[in-house]
Amino acid sequence: MRLLAVFVLTLPLAAQRSELPEFVAGDQCLFCHRNDIGPVWGKNAHNTAVLLKEGEEFTLGAHRKQRNLKRTGYGRFAMQEPDGSWNQTKFADRCAGCHTTAVNADTKAFAEVAIDCYACHGVVDLNHSNDTSLILLSKKNKTSARTVASICGSCHLRGGVSKGKGFRYAFHFVAGDDLFTDYQADWKKADDASLHAGDRHVYRNIRDVLQNNSEVTCLSCHNVHGSNSQKHRRVLTSAVCLDCHNETGPKKNVKRYRAVSATCELR
Ligand code: HEC
Ligand code: HEC
Ligand code: HEC
Ligand code: HEC
Ligand code: HEC
Ligand code: HEC
Repeated sequence: MRLLAVFVLTLPLAAQRSELPEFVAGDQCLFCHRNDIGPVWGKNAHNTAVLLKEGEEFTLGAHRKQRNLKRTGYGRFAMQEPDGSWNQTKFADRCAGCHTTAVNADTKAFAEVAIDCYACHGVVDLNHSNDTSLILLSKKNKTSARTVASICGSCHLRGGVSKGKGFRYAFHFVAGDDLFTDYQADWKKADDASLHAGDRHVYRNIRDVLQNNSEVTCLSCHNVHGSNSQKHRRVLTSAVCLDCHNETGPKKNVKRYRAVSATCELR
């Protein structure tokens, strides 16, 4: 009887992983990929999402806005508030899931500072050097649109909630999993004109993939390692374009927007 109760209680989490897998860290990947990825990785916004300043001090946020962090233990940071005080728990509770790699849901400790290869390429089979179809997002891996949406959406769908744990970030998500079995986003945001274009185009694109079987993904427009979005000019015009462009007139005139996000405390 007792066993049954435990079983029923844990059922809603059954689809989620109870533990995170082991993975190969970026340094090891870069040993072999020093010529293709090495030269551009240093400047990639994912790699600089958390940057070492000196000693135990780090910066969260690469380009426009920053927060100060201080290492307080394995996989833990304290974060400085605008009034100068240090908050010991907020980073782990509310930020780590999208700004660091492989956060353990029980301890909330992260495995790697910033966003490592694993966050997008998943658990990598080292035999991929002979057969590149074994690795997610490679040219030969037919990564589905839903899988791409899951990977990028695991951090870029700001404002979603993990059903299982109530976290404001995806819980024990591993690239290759279906994000949407646990992470719930409010798709009405795709039509919310008050949401800034950065977040809105993400919501709209992922909704199009999930609900309208669109084959246009983040990767139709973004070259992640090249840190550019030049490809987007060649995508067929659709509603997503209007998040940033006007309905008529030249595409050169882009709507202006300011990045604001309650999730990231950006006002
Ligand atoms: C583990 C979380 C995470 C995942 C997974 C992730 N991103 Fe990001 N991404 C971030 C964060 C955090 C930043 C912002 C870093 C900063 O500005 O400090 C960012 C920045 C970006 C930027 C802006 C880059 C720039 O140069 O300004 C683009 C574009 C982007 N991501 C696209 C993607 C795409 C496409 C995917 C899926 C293949 C993806 N991201 C997966 C967290 C993530
Ligand atoms: C934010 C997501 C993300 C992270 C983090 C990431 N990659 Fe990628 N990677 C991609 C995507 C997406 C592609 C597919 C190419 C494309 O469409 O831009 C890719 C392609 C590649 C390729 C194929 C070459 C190419 O440019 O097409 C290699 C090699 C690679 N990644 C290695 C790495 C290594 C090594 C790391 C860590 C140091 C890493 N990646 C981190 C998303 C990511
Ligand atoms: C022992 C060397 C080695 C290690 C370690 C290694 N790779 Fe590779 N990787 C290769 C070789 C060789 C290829 C095939 C040639 C190529 O496309 O660069 C490859 C191919 C890839 C591709 C596909 C490129 C394409 O054709 O689209 C990706 C993505 C990639 N590696 C990512 C990673 C990531 C992420 C890691 C770390 C988890 C990693 N690699 C670790 C050697 C390695
Ligand atoms: C139809 C093309 C298109 C699609 C699809 C698309 N993007 Fe974008 N995205 C862009 C363009 C263009 C920009 C503006 C780039 C610039 O400012 O240089 C942009 C900007 C961004 C930014 C930076 C926003 C900021 O705050 O400045 C991020 C992050 C981003 N995209 C992530 C994503 C993710 C994640 C996906 C998939 C869920 C995605 N995009 C899908 C075209 C697209
Ligand atoms: C997230 C915002 C965003 C979205 C969504 C977006 N664009 Fe853009 N677009 C930009 C920005 C910013 C520029 C200028 C810089 C650049 O090219 O990246 C631009 C530039 C362009 C240009 C070049 C204009 C010129 O004359 O220089 C074209 C063409 C274009 N976009 C087409 C599209 C199409 C088609 C779509 C929909 C499939 C789209 N864009 C969606 C932000 C966006
Ligand atoms: C659900 C995932 C998620 C959570 C949780 C999250 N962030 Fe972010 N954050 C992102 C993404 C994605 C970006 C990059 C978006 C872009 O470039 O448009 C980002 C960007 C930022 C930036 C850089 C902004 C800029 O424009 O330069 C800062 C600073 C930041 N976040 C702080 C925080 C803080 C502080 C917390 C916790 C209170 C937090 N974030 C929680 C996903 C998240």
